Amino acid sequence: TKTYRIAAIPGDGIGKEVLPVGQRVIDLVAQKHNFTVDWTEFDWSCERYHDTGRMMPEDGIEQMKAFDSIYLGAVGFPGVPDHVSLWGLLIPLRRELDQYANVRPVRLLKGINSPLAGRGADDIDMIIVRENVEGEYSEIGGRVYQGTEHEAAIQESILTRRGTDRIMDYAFNVAKTRKRKHVSSATKSNGIIHTMPFWDERFAAAAERHPGIGTAQFHIDIMTANFVLHPDWFDVVVASNLFGDILSDLGPAVAGSIGIAPSANINPEGKYPSMFEPVHGSAPDIAGKGVANPVAAVWTAAMMLEHLGEPGAAAEIERAIETSLERADTKTRDLGGTADTAGSEAAILAALS
Ligand code: NAD
Ligand code: IPM
Ligand code: MN
Repeated sequence: TKTYRIAAIPGDGIGKEVLPVGQRVIDLVAQKHNFTVDWTEFDWSCERYHDTGRMMPEDGIEQMKAFDSIYLGAVGFPGVPDHVSLWGLLIPLRRELDQYANVRPVRLLKGINSPLAGRGADDIDMIIVRENVEGEYSEIGGRVYQGTEHEAAIQESILTRRGTDRIMDYAFNVAKTRKRKHVSSATKSNGIIHTMPFWDERFAAAAERHPGIGTAQFHIDIMTANFVLHPDWFDVVVASNLFGDILSDLGPAVAGSIGIAPSANINPEGKYPSMFEPVHGSAPDIAGKGVANPVAAVWTAAMMLEHLGEPGAAAEIERAIETSLERADTKTRDLGGTADTAGSEAAILAALS
């Protein structure tokens, strides 16, 4: 039997509640599909920061390189400034492991009502492909004239040709696997006049490299409106780091809840491990209460197994999720149900066995 070595980083808040659910789901399907997972747990988190002054050890990135993939809960908690916790763990992992493609599917699952009236499963089915290592999330910049009336904060946004072309190619290749074969680009070339016209040029160039794929582009402002008014227009959406971040909370809201949204940080060349995490964060407002929706972590687990080469196990998990959403007492409160985390997990595990 095949064994996958996976690093588990539960992180902070509800990350510690939902990640073990995903691990148990994986261990159960593994038996049926004839593989095993060799889990290694890492306590990298804000708690660790309080104890040691670091979110992860100095050689943390190197340690991760030994794994087939990384499964992460959430990072960030009140008590440690977000820019310290996130730039001490999540962001360096994404960047230094060159996980430049952030793939975030948005689908209206069976058993969930969209907050948009009259919308069904055929209307909401898209994949957001977010550039994950450059763009607006840049370390270049800083403060000047601190404490004076001339104080300013500067943050440069960098789009490289290589970085932009490769995310465009990734998005077009995803579109080739889809029924509608269409890519929409999120831009703002009317306002952000250096980086975004360049983004548009590279999108047009990619469209020429990938004939047979339909294209559209929208300024980010009207794109957010169209996610609500016309979600059926979108198939693959390619976006810069910040725009993709925003769209990937809006999309899941339209599909019912941020509590179900999965995410994959992919290093497409396979030089480094890819990392799988829910879209949501540590949810300090509900952390420790046992009510977090584990579906995002479980769907994320399915994405990870698919990536590792276990599509059968992945599909089975997705079916089990939908079964668990059929009844109000087996789905969580963010979906209008009454279940707690354990109740949702029990329904998913039951559907699998
Ligand atoms: P959040 O996603 O943690 O929470 C937003 C809202 O959604 C909250 O009301 C929360 O209760 C709810 N929610 C989120 N996940 C849920 C789930 N599984 N089930 C039920 N309800 C859920 O976003 P935030 O409040 O902006 O961020 C909180 C912390 O998490 C911050 O430190 C932030 O930086 C961090 N964060 C981390 C990641 C990550 O690690 N990938 C992602 C987003 C935010
Ligand atoms: C996400 C999160 C992160 C991001 C934060 C926590 C830095 O919002 O994964 O969507 O912006 O990428
Ligand atoms: Mn986000």
